[in-house]
Amino acid sequence: MTSPVIAVDGTAASGKGTLARRLATALNYAYLDTGLLYRATGFLTASLYPNSEKISEEIAIEAVKAITPETMENPALRDEKITQRASMVAAIPAVRTALIEQQRNFAKKPPGDVEGAILDGRDIGTVICPEADYKIFVDADVETRADRRVKELRERGVDAIHARVLQDMRERDTRDSSRSVAPLVPAEDAFILDTTTMDADAVFATALEFISKRNESKA
Ligand code: DC
Repeated sequence: MTSPVIAVDGTAASGKGTLARRLATALNYAYLDTGLLYRATGFLTASLYPNSEKISEEIAIEAVKAITPETMENPALRDEKITQRASMVAAIPAVRTALIEQQRNFAKKPPGDVEGAILDGRDIGTVICPEADYKIFVDADVETRADRRVKELRERGVDAIHARVLQDMRERDTRDSSRSVAPLVPAEDAFILDTTTMDADAVFATALEFISKRNESKA
C-alpha cells in the first residue's frame, strides 16, 4: 500500500510553502517544494547560457538534466530574476514532462522514515498526483501577496519596490494561469483556502481541520 499524499497548490506568496512545511513537520511527512525544480531549471539556463536572451526548449532540457541536489539549495534560486525565468521555463511543455517522474517518485516513495509525502506547486492535484488523498488550493488577493513578498524580500536585505513586485506578480500569475500545459487551476476536488485575511497559524489550523474532517468521512 502506498502512503498518503497531500497536494498543496496555489499562487505565488499565497502562503502555500509555509503551510506545506508546517504540515510536513506536524504530520511527519516528507516535503518537496516543486517550485525549486523550475527555479533550478531557470537558474541553470542562465548560468549555462548567460548570453542567450531566449530560452529554447533544448537549452531548458539541458538545464533540467544538469540539476543536482546542490543546485536545489542555492539561495540565488529565490532572486527575482530567477523567479521570472522559472515561470518562463515552466511554460515549456517538454520541461514539465521531464520533471514529472521525479515528482511522482517522491510522492510514491517519500525519502526517510515518514508517514507520507507532501508536495507543493501549481499542478500537483491536477497533473502530478491527481489521486492525492488530500488536495488544498491556497490563494490570496494579489495586493496582499505583493505586500507579503515585499516584506520577505526586505527581511532578506533586498531593496524591493512595491509597485514593481506587484507588477511582476501579476505577470507571473497570468503566465502561470494561461499556459497551455498544466495551467494553475484548482483541482475540482480541492479544498480552497483563501489566506487574504489569515495569518500563518490560522491557515495551518484550517488546513489541519480539513485533513481531520476528510479522515473522519473516510473512516
Ligand atoms: O512556487 P514557486 O513560486 O517557487 O514557483 C516558481 C515558478 O515555477 C512559478 O512561477 C510557476 C512554476 N511552477 C510550476 O509551474 N509548477 C509547479 N508545480 C511549481 C512551480
